[in-house]
Amino acid sequence: MPTIFVLNGPNLNLLGKREPGIYGGQTLADIEAMCLEEGRKLGLTIDFRQTNHEGLLIDWFHEASGSAAGIAVNAGAYTHTSVALHDATRAIGIPVVELHLSNVHAREEFRHKSLLAPAAKGVICGFGAHSYILALNALNTLLHTSK
Ligand code: DQA
Repeated sequence: MPTIFVLNGPNLNLLGKREPGIYGGQTLADIEAMCLEEGRKLGLTIDFRQTNHEGLLIDWFHEASGSAAGIAVNAGAYTHTSVALHDATRAIGIPVVELHLSNVHAREEFRHKSLLAPAAKGVICGFGAHSYILALNALNTLLHTSK
């Protein structure tokens, strides 16, 4: 069964109490449960993780390149700042789908720019926790259509 890494960046451990009007009331544990359930339906093993540290996120990208078929990543604020994440995405040779709970384009201007997006396979944002499900389905389709 192919493995998909679902990686979460800074402050996403606070979901549920962090600006629920923007990010919704679900906790990261709730979202992990949704992802595991979707993985069962799709026949994917889900490795779900969160860190507040940019370097650890990069280490996980490298680890995924040896052991996973793809990455769904909510890089949080590092999306808008991290050249290292852009470079890692280009380096690893497996598809990366960028995702966000909120519609970053409808928010502050500093969120409109993603350094990750030009290196990613695609971007999903604005659907709350369902963005994770959409990202898993996008990766699953890629796995079945690419050689
Ligand atoms: C976010 C959007 C980012 O701009 C923000 O820094 C986050 C969460 C989202 O899921 O909507 O931490 O990635």
